[in-house]
Amino acid sequence: MHIFDTIDALREHLNQQKKQGKRIGFVPTMGNLHKGHLSLIKQAKAQSDVVVSSIFVNPTQFSKGEDIERYPRTLEQDQTLLIEQGCDVLFIPEVQSMYPKGELTRVSVKDISAKYCGASREGHFDGVTTIVCKLFNIVQPDVAVFGSKDFQQLAIIRHMAKDLMMNIDIQAAPTFRADSGLALSSRNGYLSEEELDIAPAIYKTLTWAKEAILNNQSQAKIEKDAKAKLTEAGLKPDYFHICNADTLQAATKDDTHIVILVAAYLGSARLIDNLNFEKQ
Ligand code: PAF
Repeated sequence: MHIFDTIDALREHLNQQKKQGKRIGFVPTMGNLHKGHLSLIKQAKAQSDVVVSSIFVNPTQFSKGEDIERYPRTLEQDQTLLIEQGCDVLFIPEVQSMYPKGELTRVSVKDISAKYCGASREGHFDGVTTIVCKLFNIVQPDVAVFGSKDFQQLAIIRHMAKDLMMNIDIQAAPTFRADSGLALSSRNGYLSEEELDIAPAIYKTLTWAKEAILNNQSQAKIEKDAKAKLTEAGLKPDYFHICNADTLQAATKDDTHIVILVAAYLGSARLIDNLNFEKQ
C-alpha cells in the first residue's frame, strides 16, 4: 500500500494511474476502522482498479461541545487492516494541508443539513461536505463508497455531488451489524459493558417500527411509542423520524421508499442508526 501525507505526492501518483486508464475508487474515513469500513473498501475494490482511502479526523465537522481530542486514533492498526483488505493507496494529510492558513471557503447543502443530526450538531454537515469536496477534488475518483449507517450524511453528499456537477458515482454500502443488531461504529468504543447490552435496543426499536408501518399504524403514534421504548431501555432519544428515503422529508401515505432515522444518547455517546425499506 502506498502511503502519502501530501496532496502533491498523492496527485502525482494518481495521475500516473489515471494515464494508464485505471479506474479510481475512494473511501474517505476518519480512521479507527472496523468491519463496516472494510466492507466499503471491498465494495470499492470490486468496481475499480485502484482503491484510495483517506484517514483524516476532520476538525470542522466537530460541533461545539464535541471533543476532537477524544476521537480514537489507531493509525497503525488501521494501516494493517487496510493492507489486509487490499487497499492500494492511503492518504493521511495534516490539518494544515487540508485547511491552509487563509482558506475561506465552506461547502454547504441547505435544508437537509439543518435537520435531524444537523439540528443537534450545528455546522456538522457543512464540515462534512467541505472536507469531502476537498478530498474529491484531490483524488478525483470515479466511484466513492459511503456507509448507509450515516444515511443523512450519504443523502447530503449525493446532493452536493449532483448540485456541483461532480462526475462521481456515489455508492452506499449496507450497514454492518453485530449479532446483537447494533450497527458498528467508532462511537461504540465509548460504551461500557453495561451500555453495550442496552444499545441493541435501537435496532430492535427500528425493526418494531418497520413492522408497525407495514401494518399501517399511525406514524405519529409509532414515533412516540418508539421514543418511549428507547427511554424504557435506558437510552435518551434525540429524534425518531419516519421519512421519505429520497428527500428525507416526513413520509406521507403515498411514499413507498421509507427510511426510519434515529439518534439516541447512551452514556457519553450519541448513537445513530436507520432502516430503509420499500413499502408496497
Ligand atoms: O463518515 C465519516 O467518517 C466522515 O464524516 C467522512 C465522510 C470521512 C468525512 O470526514
